[in-house]
Amino acid sequence: MTASTAATQDPRLARDLAALARPGLLVGHRVILPGDERALLDGEAAAMATRPLAARRASGAARLVARALMEQLDIAPVAVPPGPAGAPAWPPGIIGSLAHDDTVALAALARGPEIRGVGIDIEPAAPLPPEMRDLVVTAQEHASLARDPFAGRLLFAAKEAVYKAVQPLDGLFLEFHDITVNLAAGRAVVRNGRVVALGLCVSTHLVALAVV
Ligand SMILES: CC(C)(COP(=O)(O)OP(=O)(O)OC[C@H]1O[C@@H](n2cnc3c(N)ncnc32)[C@H](O)[C@@H]1OP(=O)(O)O)[C@@H](O)C(=O)NCCC(=O)NCCS
Repeated sequence: MTASTAATQDPRLARDLAALARPGLLVGHRVILPGDERALLDGEAAAMATRPLAARRASGAARLVARALMEQLDIAPVAVPPGPAGAPAWPPGIIGSLAHDDTVALAALARGPEIRGVGIDIEPAAPLPPEMRDLVVTAQEHASLARDPFAGRLLFAAKEAVYKAVQPLDGLFLEFHDITVNLAAGRAVVRNGRVVALGLCVSTHLVALAVV
């Protein structure tokens, strides 16, 4: 690892994210740095021109991760502009997802055909604020809250990841209560009956990966 890659890699997060990868599906991260907004390619930058600098910076960092994963999948790195509903427009044959918070950007990328949808989300490693509990957690999920202080926030991350995996496939807008998550089983069921596999990671951040 060179000095410049070391600055963009968090070793603990890298190790914990590696456990989420599976054959044909890669997960990567980057610590967001000033200047990452310049990584946006023409089509990407034009679509994001009105976003604040911090948002463009995070989106640039996520695309740097995505393009590095494309190279690992032996695909020429290309632009990934946002589509009409916000989902990234991937090159043919690639399925993926992006996420970022203020400090870290993530990408998950898979080469079909077994994997039809991928969603990833990142959240701070902190409990879900109590005022958000009823918005996010269904009656069925309540029991899981007692077992783990991060369970509420993991449910939040899992549902956002499921939304990102499923919305481009089904075109459905989903509320939190439209998705039921079983954290212990690593599984979610969407209101239209779609079943989604979940990978969950408790690290410097909480990360959820949803795979259809
Ligand atoms: C998609 C959404 C969940 C993203 O969450 P966020 O906390 O704003 O931001 P994140 O950093 O986690 O993710 C941002 C990335 O999501 C991706 N994204 C945006 N809309 C998407 C969609 N419809 N499908 C898949 N991915 C999408 C984009 O790649 C975006 O990054 P980019 O702008 O750099 O391209 C949110 O913007 C949204 O549309 N929410 C409405 C639906 C919802 O939240 N329902 C409750 C949960 S089910």
